[in-house]
Order: sequence, then structure tokens, then C-alpha cells
Amino acid sequence: MREQFHRVIAIDGPAASGKSSVARGLARRLGFVYVNSGAIYRAITWRILQKKIHPEENERIADALQTAAITCCLQDNESRILIDDVDPGERLRDDCVNENVAGVSQFPVVRQIVAKKLHEHAQSHDLIVEGRDIGSVVFPDTPYKFYLNASPEVRLQRRAAQGGRDEITIRDRADSSRPVSPLVIAKDAHIIDTSHLTIQEVINEIVGVLEKMGLRT
Ligand code: DC
Repeated sequence: MREQFHRVIAIDGPAASGKSSVARGLARRLGFVYVNSGAIYRAITWRILQKKIHPEENERIADALQTAAITCCLQDNESRILIDDVDPGERLRDDCVNENVAGVSQFPVVRQIVAKKLHEHAQSHDLIVEGRDIGSVVFPDTPYKFYLNASPEVRLQRRAAQGGRDEITIRDRADSSRPVSPLVIAKDAHIIDTSHLTIQEVINEIVGVLEKMGLRT
């Protein structure tokens, strides 16, 4: 039987395109739950590395995930991830996670687990989900799809301003070229170039599109 989902607004795009700030602000404005799917991939990567599993060892990763307890709970209307009862918190942004998350997230077994968690959330809440494949693969039936982009220069500046040492160009290439669920623009997505827009301007544009589509909040 087909799963029944609440309303889902998908916000996809490459690293530092503005997804997190926009998705969080939009969720507050609309009263939806905010979910950062990248955080789930990051938490899995962090745990794999903590267990001293090499990020290319597909089978060991699959074995480890079979017994891992991955829980998504809600705090202040935002999804938080616990893995084996630990909230990795700021460690999700560690250099070792930045360097390996694109590799770990290419494995189908990892993608299936994350998609299942997102589907479970959508069975009980209206969601704003940010990620790479949310509109194209995880929730292909939602009519509310947005793809945020910004020039590579602007994205690099934004990441540097956040103090991160995240090699976003390398990650983008890996995310866009992987065989399973690559970063693509869903054919019915509304595309927004955020290079010269403020967060509020992007949110306003999205709200305008949603209102025209008849979304009631
Ligand atoms: O959004 P982020 O930069 O924190 O995501 C970290 C990584 O997680 C990203 O490089 C690829 C992976 N990811 C993914 O493959 N699919 C998603 N829907 C979200 C993130």
C-alpha cells in the first residue's frame, strides 16, 4: 500500500546555496517541521568513522547500520538525529565528516535508511526538507519543489564566512556524479538563484510561489 504523507516542501541544491537558512526560516513562518537530511548523512558518516570503519567499506557500513539505532526526534519543531543514543551535535561539521560524507552517502543502503526516516517523519508532520534528492527521489509526488543555487564564488565565500574548511567543490562534484540519487534539478522544481538575494527575499519568493499554488498555512 502507498504510504500517506503530510505536506512536504522540498528544498534541494548544492552546498552553501542557502538551503539551511531558508528552510529553517520558511519552516518557522509556515509552522512546518524543519528537517535537514544532510544532517542524517553526516551523523551516519560520523558514527562509521567513530567505529573505525573505512568509508569505502560498503559491506562493513551495511553491517554496522543494521544494528545502529538511528532516531529522529523533534525539538522546537526541528528534527534532531540521535545515533546509538548520541546526539553528535557540532561534530557533524568536523573536517573528517566533511571529507567523507559524500562518499558514505553514495551507498544505496545508506540512502534507503535516510529515505525511510524522512518518510516516517512525513507520516505525522508537515515538513520542509532540505537536501539533494528530496524532490527528485525521496518525495517525487510533492508538488512543492524548490531548487536553490548560487554561483560557485558566492558559495565559497559563504562557507568561508561560516568558518568552515569544507571543500564544497569536491563534495558537489561527488554529489552530482554519483550513480544513485545524484543532485539533479527535479523537472517540476522552481529554481531560485540566491547569489544576490537575502535569506528573507528567498523565503518571500518561495512563499509567493506556494500561495499561488494554493498552499494553505
Ligand atoms: O546539506 P549538507 O551539505 O550538510 O549535506 C552533506 C552531504 O550529505 C552532502 O555532501 C551529500 C549528502 N546528502 C545527500 O546525499 N542527499 C541529501 N538529500 C542530503 C545530503
